[in-house]
Amino acid sequence: MNSIWNETVHFEKRNQLCKDTNTDVLIIGAGITGILCGYMLEKNGVKCKVLEAGKICGGQTKNTTAKITAQHADIYHRLIKSVGTEKAKEYFLYNNGAIDTIEKIIKEENISCHFERLPSYLYCTNEKEKIEKEAAAYNELGIKHEITKETDLPFEVESALKIENQAQFSPLEFLLPISNKLEIYENTPVTKIEKNLVFTRRARVTADKIIFACHFPFVNFPGLYFAKMHQERSYVIAVDNVEQLSGMYYGLDKDGLSFRSFSNILLLGGGSHRTGKNEDGGKYEMLKEKAHKFWKNAKVISHWSAQDCITGDGIPYIGQFSRKNKNIFVATGFNKWGMTSSAVCAQIISKSIVTGKNEETVFSPMRNVNFEVLGEIIKDSAQALKSISSQFITFTGKNPNKLEKDSAAVCALDGKKKAIYKDENAKEHIITSRCPHLGCEMKWNADDKTWECPCHGSRFSVDGNVLNEPAQKDI
Ligand SMILES: Cc1cc2nc3c(=O)[nH]c(=O)nc-3n(C[C@H](O)[C@H](O)[C@H](O)COP(=O)(O)OP(=O)(O)OC[C@H]3O[C@@H](n4cnc5c(N)ncnc54)[C@H](O)[C@@H]3O)c2cc1C
Ligand code: FES
Repeated sequence: MNSIWNETVHFEKRNQLCKDTNTDVLIIGAGITGILCGYMLEKNGVKCKVLEAGKICGGQTKNTTAKITAQHADIYHRLIKSVGTEKAKEYFLYNNGAIDTIEKIIKEENISCHFERLPSYLYCTNEKEKIEKEAAAYNELGIKHEITKETDLPFEVESALKIENQAQFSPLEFLLPISNKLEIYENTPVTKIEKNLVFTRRARVTADKIIFACHFPFVNFPGLYFAKMHQERSYVIAVDNVEQLSGMYYGLDKDGLSFRSFSNILLLGGGSHRTGKNEDGGKYEMLKEKAHKFWKNAKVISHWSAQDCITGDGIPYIGQFSRKNKNIFVATGFNKWGMTSSAVCAQIISKSIVTGKNEETVFSPMRNVNFEVLGEIIKDSAQALKSISSQFITFTGKNPNKLEKDSAAVCALDGKKKAIYKDENAKEHIITSRCPHLGCEMKWNADDKTWECPCHGSRFSVDGNVLNEPAQKDI
């Protein structure tokens, strides 16, 4: 199902790139990150071209909940521990400044996109120590805040941490007029890069600088981003007939929910899991049940899901792609906080390109990793190893004839492993169970009816069309 943003905002169709060309900066991906990078560079007189594999904002950006805040869950006490007070403060200042950057663009370009300033809250219903820990970090960093029990959530909270002057908007209404200023080519996936030469299916682009703004960078070496991140999926429902909230809320409890209002609708989000770990489904049902429990007359009008890249230390990778090449940049690993992170990317990367100096920041992709992060990387690698090796384990598997209608499983067929979905009309959709990215075994997502890779989060339709990167090929 489409998100409420995608239902109401329509981008003008753009041509595919069919002729060789050149540019100062080539941006890969036309989501919020690619568009904001292009906008800031063009403002500084740098010529850009943007290549988009599918449609403008057809990736994760169309499915966000678009809370624009520097309150990124309980990140600050973790940052103080992992990178120290100074860098934690730098993280806050960049992200809080990104709210002003977005507001400035809205004013300068006279964009009507339901932008409003409002408070942001972290809340707990039973683990208030988490709030206390994060509040102590706010004290250390000088972030103005209030601890309260007063919220307009439809249930009691044990404790909430409030910061003022954050924001929310309608993301595609914001991006539509900005994207209209950019030279964007749709249906133009980048297939390969050799030094400053970018290959697509029908044409090549020579570029002085290249920016990977494609959510998950698909080039495996150098950079090794696949080893430094995994992806997590979450679910959203849009609910009508409920009271509106005067703040944005994010639950820190296990299985916590997120809330924001938009016009007369409320967005309720939750059900987060590592991509490839939702074989039993039930996430939308869970959200619907909550909505009906919270509000007697709740009417669910839409539901959708999205995923984002999660880094070991909770800090995005923004800056030079690898030590090998000073002219290639990356913007990824937003940990589900891409509204401010994308504006931070646009600021850092455009400054590097305009000044010719790649500044070291807290987001530097080549930062050192500590033991905690190393632990996360080892965990991710263990998951990858498990999923790759399960491809080769001798397997008797489920008998495809025993599959019920509208269900799926990895089955043995003629001695080979196949991912099979039997639809409502008993038609079988059969593809190989091996992910084309690096060969892990895919898992079924019963809510979205998709095949997902637990290693790095590629997704495929039941007929094997690639839906999400890092995989770039259909099965
Ligand atoms: C459920 C959910 C709720 C969220 N809510 C919030 C929120 O409230 N606040 C917040 O700050 N963040 C939120 N986020 C995070 C935020 O939505 C994302 O971080 C952000 O949208 C990522 O934008 P992007 O431009 O980097 O990626 P995308 O929007 O995915 O754009 C990348 C583009 O690159 C294209 N592409 C891929 N490969 C290629 C290729 N080879 N060649 C050319 N193009 C390519 C894709 O087609 C895509 O259009 C949420 C995330 C989730 C999962
Ligand atoms: S996404 Fe990397 S192996 Fe599937």
